[in-house]
Amino acid sequence: MSHLLFVDDEPALRSLMAERLAERGFDVVQADSGERALELLDQFAFDIVITDLRMPGVDGGRVIESAVERYPGIVAIVITGYGTVKDAVDAIKRGASDFIAKPFQFDELMHVLQKAIEQRRLASENAYLRSQLEERYQFGGILGRSRPMQALFQLLETVARSSSTILITGETGTGKEIVARAIHHNSPRRGHRFVALNCSAIPETLLEAELFGHVRGAFTGAVGTRQGRVEQAHRGTLFLDEVGTMSVALQMKLLRTLQEREFERIGDNQTIKVDVRVIAATNSDLARMVAEGAFREDLYYRLNVIPIDLPPLRERRDDIPLLVKHFLEKFAPGQAMHVSQSAMRALMAYQWPGNVRQLENAVERAVALSAGRLEITLTDLPPEIQATPHATAMPFVDFPEQGLDLPGYLASIERDLIHRALDRTGGNRNKAADLLRIKRTTLVEKLRRLGTAP
Ligand SMILES: Nc1ncnc2c1ncn2[C@@H]1O[C@H](COP(=O)(O)OP(=O)(O)OP(=O)(O)O)[C@@H](O)[C@H]1O
Ligand SMILES: [Mg+2]
Repeated sequence: MSHLLFVDDEPALRSLMAERLAERGFDVVQADSGERALELLDQFAFDIVITDLRMPGVDGGRVIESAVERYPGIVAIVITGYGTVKDAVDAIKRGASDFIAKPFQFDELMHVLQKAIEQRRLASENAYLRSQLEERYQFGGILGRSRPMQALFQLLETVARSSSTILITGETGTGKEIVARAIHHNSPRRGHRFVALNCSAIPETLLEAELFGHVRGAFTGAVGTRQGRVEQAHRGTLFLDEVGTMSVALQMKLLRTLQEREFERIGDNQTIKVDVRVIAATNSDLARMVAEGAFREDLYYRLNVIPIDLPPLRERRDDIPLLVKHFLEKFAPGQAMHVSQSAMRALMAYQWPGNVRQLENAVERAVALSAGRLEITLTDLPPEIQATPHATAMPFVDFPEQGLDLPGYLASIERDLIHRALDRTGGNRNKAADLLRIKRTTLVEKLRRLGTAP
């Protein structure tokens, strides 16, 4: 039942309308003034407010304003007198859903009311669906609708809450770094720093100082005292990228930090305690490196407390349309660009050795080449992607949210191909049947069944 507040200083009209509204199933409360209405709005959450505009003291405009402010989803309708359209417009600006002019019949009021309720329902439903979609297909900026990504989001939500060490593995460009950042930003540590260190980008000799810092004079060139990354990440998250490239000597030191949560700056003997969460990432096979003696086994187990393996893009092709849409919006914001059928087929068929990063680059390049066209075509794609063998007759279907009617869908493809065959042959059914590798009689039968005029 909907709770409705009816506000009017004219008793006859008010009680008549209230009575008729109650007959229609509304739970009606009456107010004889704006002041009384504000009091009632303070006490109850109404779904609907209908108010006269012109009233002594607090007028209808004020009632609407405070109702909408308190209950943003409320349906609010104002009753105006003769020729006061300007007042009605004003009330709508203050948040009223609609207005009705005096004098009016009850049925007219019902009509306006039902329309406003329906609009409100649609608006909230759309907002809900939108938020659901956005929620479901992303986690902290990582997009994914495929099964493996959905499972990943579930896992990330859980591990973000803990402080356990995480080892992220995956081919280049699969999103290891954005996953690390998403974990930090969804963890209780989000108020502190996320400190990233790419172990392969820094020469071995400098890496130790970078990690642990140093005091003045610790080595030639150490002019002052400097904090290392471990210290900077105190109470936050330390992201060690490409951890597989670290020397065995440094691995030893890192192991101690992980075990004892303490370290010394280079050249100093004072031990510093830290509270850091470590997330490591690598695209090399650490288990194999352990077997070959290139990576310390004890460190491997210390890092691999929670393993997260990011699947290559070719194993989650369902994500491709979603990612393409996202990157189109990134590189051509607000332009609503799209991808042609043949280009999308090529994107779906390609192997993507460089994974999401490569896809992102391909879309950026295509946007640049499209030079203002709204459609990305096959020739806008890099040659290696264009050259991917794919079934040219296979339509690309971005599986709709609500599912699809398979027989109906297949019939539409069949109808389309038959039409194209007939076009190709100038309407000659014998030749069209040949092109389609079916008998002429089958073609005629299909035309009849598909409801296509012969
Ligand atoms: N699921 C995703 N949704 C949106 N963007 C993504 C996704 N995965 C990766 N990206 C984007 O792709 C690019 C590469 O991702 P990232 O740097 O995290 O990969 P990586 O696994 O660390 O690669 P590498 O091993 O080469 O360092 C980034 O621009 C990132 O934002
Ligand atoms: Mg990376």
